[in-house]
Amino acid sequence: MQSLINKKIVLGISGGIAAYKTPELARLLMQEGASVQVVMTEAAQQFVTPVTMQALTGNPVFTSQWDNSISNNMAHIELSRAADAIVIAPGSADLMAKLSLGLADDLLSTLCLARDCPLLIAPAMNKQMWEHAATQRSAERLNKDGVTLLGPASGFQACGEVGMGRMLEPAEVAEQVIAFFQKKTLLGKKVLITAGPTFEAIDPVRGITNHSSGKMGFTIARAALEAGAQVHLIAGPCNLPTPLEATGLITRTNVVSAKEMHAATLAATDCDVFFAVAAVADWGIAKPAKEKIKRNGKETPNIEFVANPDILLDVAKTVKTKAGKPYPYCVGFAAESTDLEKHADEKRKRKGIPMIVGNIGPDTFGSDLNQLLVIDASGSKKIAKAEKLQLARQLIQLVAKKI
Ligand code: CTP
Repeated sequence: MQSLINKKIVLGISGGIAAYKTPELARLLMQEGASVQVVMTEAAQQFVTPVTMQALTGNPVFTSQWDNSISNNMAHIELSRAADAIVIAPGSADLMAKLSLGLADDLLSTLCLARDCPLLIAPAMNKQMWEHAATQRSAERLNKDGVTLLGPASGFQACGEVGMGRMLEPAEVAEQVIAFFQKKTLLGKKVLITAGPTFEAIDPVRGITNHSSGKMGFTIARAALEAGAQVHLIAGPCNLPTPLEATGLITRTNVVSAKEMHAATLAATDCDVFFAVAAVADWGIAKPAKEKIKRNGKETPNIEFVANPDILLDVAKTVKTKAGKPYPYCVGFAAESTDLEKHADEKRKRKGIPMIVGNIGPDTFGSDLNQLLVIDASGSKKIAKAEKLQLARQLIQLVAKKI
């Protein structure tokens, strides 16, 4: 599924070494269905050529406000009028300073001043330049003017230093641009999510786990962030990157066992919505061995199990009321092998939660596709087979209406 269909994006490039990442960004935005019109400053052309950008986007690149290829000779007005957003990557310290003062002495700065669409900037500069009081003032002013800053990140810089000022990776910028266009139905809300499998240790090298990939929980986290929420993601062992990490709106707590997940989750229930997406092991090992159990010709070991706490059930017991509405609004997940609606609804009632989401079977672990059955007291609603991100966005919209 493409998330930027029909979106027209003016991609501004200013002079900085991070401009080497911008061709990749253009490609990613186009992969999501956006049409991309590139505008470059004079300095940007020292780092990446207009020919590269034209070849990638299929559109002529604008570099001068005196370009007479636009019939009325007003490129700054025409380009910004047509755009759904202007995205500048990299945004140099110089360009940020200029824009924060409303200066307009080249095509890119002029079209930013003449725009009536959102402006997003991914700053990129040396750490001293980023930390300079003048740049911090520019960033603050731009924020106040409603400009969205994407990053910067901290890390290795082209100048050999390590610190704040690195441009976000192209995929991170693209993810944030996509997020920008989503409905902000959870703005100001706190969302807690458990995701992935748990791992119950038998000894220091062995254990019991399951096939949960964590994809559904991580995707719900991404959709909640896109909707404007602040997210706490409690993840069992899974190898997935934290979604939209650069926004600073997500906290991730990594846990291993069900008991650890239970403790971390119960300590974080001061939230508006709780999605229990994790595939929690129903049983843990009564006495995990401190040292590796040796084979040594011995008999098969007898492993004793103990029941794990039910995280969702225990969170549901903490529900309080604010302005006549219960919180957190608890959403459970159910994977059933037979009679999904009946068993999932029984589970919903047993756990004392308002909503449960059934995976309409089989084979959803690890896949990017899924279909869901959303059940609450008023009945059930099917969300047809689609990519997990699309399903997660629809689920977030349903839950947002409930709270
Ligand atoms: N869950 C939980 N803690 C557990 C077990 C399950 O929070 N110890 C949550 C899951 O994250 C999911 C929901 O409860 O949202 C249903 O999980 P499931 O394993 O299907 O339910 P069980 O209560 O274990 O029922 P079953 O007998 O079908 O396994």
